[in-house]
Amino acid sequence: MSLDGLEKKKTIDLRQKHIGPSCKIFFSHDPIKIVKAKGQYMYDEKGQRYLDCINNVAHVGHCHPDVVKAGAEQMGLLNTNTRFLHDNLVLYAQRLQATLPDKLSVCYFVNSGAYHGHVSSLIDISPYKFHQLSDAEQSQFVHVAPSPDVYRGKYRADHPDAATAYADEVKDIIQKAHIKGHKIAAFIAESLQSCGGQVIPPVGYFQQVAEHVRKAGGVFIADEVQVGFGRVGSRFWAFQLQGDDFVPDIVTMGKPIGNGHPMSCVVTTREVAEAFMSSGMEYFNTFGGNPVSCAIGLAVLDVIEKEDLRGNALRVGQYLTNVLEKQKQKHPLIGDIRGRGLFVGVELVKDRVKLTPATAEAQEVIYELKEQHVLLSADGPHRNVLKFKPPLCFTTEDADLVVEKLDPILTGICLLAADVLRMRSEVLCCYFLHSRVGGSVRLEGKRFGKYRT
Ligand SMILES: Cc1ncc(COP(=O)(O)O)c(C=O)c1O
Repeated sequence: MSLDGLEKKKTIDLRQKHIGPSCKIFFSHDPIKIVKAKGQYMYDEKGQRYLDCINNVAHVGHCHPDVVKAGAEQMGLLNTNTRFLHDNLVLYAQRLQATLPDKLSVCYFVNSGAYHGHVSSLIDISPYKFHQLSDAEQSQFVHVAPSPDVYRGKYRADHPDAATAYADEVKDIIQKAHIKGHKIAAFIAESLQSCGGQVIPPVGYFQQVAEHVRKAGGVFIADEVQVGFGRVGSRFWAFQLQGDDFVPDIVTMGKPIGNGHPMSCVVTTREVAEAFMSSGMEYFNTFGGNPVSCAIGLAVLDVIEKEDLRGNALRVGQYLTNVLEKQKQKHPLIGDIRGRGLFVGVELVKDRVKLTPATAEAQEVIYELKEQHVLLSADGPHRNVLKFKPPLCFTTEDADLVVEKLDPILTGICLLAADVLRMRSEVLCCYFLHSRVGGSVRLEGKRFGKYRT
């Protein structure tokens, strides 16, 4: 072992040997070994810098010194569980509450958002998860409402009232469930869909859904695990983009809450908390709400305020969207650009009218950017939406750097696609000629292999 750690190959070998094969890795054919990070940059074992456009966990910047200090100091003093009184727990709960509408006042601290194959009841309510199972079968207690996607969804931007149309779909599902004798427990959605393809629900949708759900006896759960803590800039929580007249009954928080330290939280109303209490079940979590986590959580909130990261998200997010819009004018592959603050999606399509998802092209972009040390991901049901959700210290220079690299990649893909089409007609022609004499033709090459034209 060298001073810099294991040789990369050795790390790969040990991982293959000892880490479960269902634990996926980015760029599995050539994974990146990151050894340190700061702000919005990560460094590999050779000291090469990568621009991180996707880590919404390192919210206030990788290894922010204030957060590291708060955690280390508290770790040197005490770490224990919530069965003892501790100021950090109550002070943190109070600070968190101050960011929320008054009604959301009761916290349950946890140490993960927990849906990644740990609890079947949670996989059941996540189409993103259960669609991954080869024998996927939707639980009869789960109903999936259409995604309120005004770009490629059922009701689009030209609809006079997409919010009501999508909310009526939920109303319809509730009615059908009632006919079958089912009751409604809850509606859960991300306040802005991230894995669902950076979808921004039309304003007024949540209010109407909440009304239908509550009328049926259910509660509204807003998942802020990816999009909370000021990422959207103008508001602290993404559900607030719907307007101040909307307040969920339960909010789930994770990822950015601890800037990389494993912690999460469920905040709810006194009414829901009392109902949970009346079930007689104690809530205890060995690590959730411990003094170290709470010290870290407080430091994260301090940094967001002190460094005006919401303001930065707004300014840089707007700048990023503007420079991407210019790319859209240049590259027909870009079908849509949508976002709020530093939560931005770029949807790639092969055809702007048919909206045919450019899935392979999106993967090519991600792969090429990685080669140039920019980390971006593609998501959405068709995996064709380039997803920006960087640490909130991302700058306009970073935005310029990504676009500078993205531009020739998109041009290259366009030329390549034209090339493939041209070659395909040649191959067809060739095959026709060869087939007459019993021959065959094979088209080889790394890049062509990736295209399903
Ligand atoms: C929107 C959303 N909710 C919940 C979770 C689950 O969080 P965790 O990975 O901490 O279990 C994730 C994680 O990827 C997420 O993206």
